[in-house]
Amino acid sequence: MTLPVPYLAARTLTVVKPIDTSGAKRIVNLGLNESWLGTAPGAIEAIRASAADVHRYSDPGCKVMRAAIGKQFRLDPARIVCGNGSEELLDAVGRVYARAGDEILFPAYSFLQFNIVAYRIGAKAVEVPLGANFAVDIDMLLAAVTPATRVVFLANPNNPTGVAVPMDEVARLARELPSHIVLVLDAAYAEYVDPAESEATFEIADRHPNVVVTRTFSKAYGLAAARAGWAYAHPEVATALNNVRGIGNVNGMAQAAATVAIAAQGFVKEIRERTAEGRDYLHGRLRALGFELSPSVANFAFARLPGAPAGWAQDTVARLAKQGFIFRSNEDYGLPDWLRITVADQADLDEMLQLLAIEVEAVTGEKLAAGG
Ligand SMILES: Cc1ncc(COP(=O)(O)O)c(C=O)c1O
Repeated sequence: MTLPVPYLAARTLTVVKPIDTSGAKRIVNLGLNESWLGTAPGAIEAIRASAADVHRYSDPGCKVMRAAIGKQFRLDPARIVCGNGSEELLDAVGRVYARAGDEILFPAYSFLQFNIVAYRIGAKAVEVPLGANFAVDIDMLLAAVTPATRVVFLANPNNPTGVAVPMDEVARLARELPSHIVLVLDAAYAEYVDPAESEATFEIADRHPNVVVTRTFSKAYGLAAARAGWAYAHPEVATALNNVRGIGNVNGMAQAAATVAIAAQGFVKEIRERTAEGRDYLHGRLRALGFELSPSVANFAFARLPGAPAGWAQDTVARLAKQGFIFRSNEDYGLPDWLRITVADQADLDEMLQLLAIEVEAVTGEKLAAGG
């Protein structure tokens, strides 16, 4: 028997990591940067109500959802493209604007999917070195542009480092990047920073027709499983993205949920404030345990235990998973010593930190104050 030969070599997507939670009495997932404060009010009811129409096709143009997003941010709905999560739209940009052999540029330790987008089309992923503390160096990015560069991705704030690029630097990148190159500003974590910054991101896209902004309902709006995201782009770019996305990409229930959720900006504000408090708390406790921290402004901490032996982070993740606390090691990002831990309820964090302190103690030999 011969099997069809794929153009892409078989590769396991490392974003889907097996996790052994056997033995855990309950699971607290701090590994996917999901919402720890539920879903935007009204969204679940909207899903329930729209389920009555599940025998019908949903609107492939996402008209109502786009109108709601446009109204919320004072954006032209004709410039909005909805996606099956923002990941579909990142992929769409790659497929529309780059081909095999082209270069797709992004800062080192960027969101893993940028690499996957390049891989899927046979483009070359060019990772640009960072400055200290995972800071993105816009000059280095600009210097890495070649005649083969077609797309530049910038996640702001970034996952897994949580680092944000100052808006004036983002604006400078848009200004100085040659206009035939698409600049994708992936703002999946925008809700966790000052709303003025997301407004500024849209203004950058208004000034530069080669800029695409992507947003998601998966994080602050608490709709990760619904798979809803959107892009804001020049109308012609929007048309190009519409040409390659799935026709029925955003199902009716997701459209209904997103349409309600986008108006829930009071909820988003509360998420932002409580997440900032939770992040400060988590940062403080990790620091007390001896961790070095990336300056994350998102809904997660990114931390490394200096002096820990090789493999400690992976072993710690495996041991804590068996006790019900999932978080993420980052060997697939080329950062095997770093842990990414999502902000959560203080009681859950405290329980996790007690277990983590035992792991730290095994390395440092010190009895550390884990009690909180
Ligand atoms: C930086 C970044 N961009 C985009 C996404 C994709 O999110 P979604 O496809 O759920 O919208 C994620 C998900 O974790 C992310 O971290």
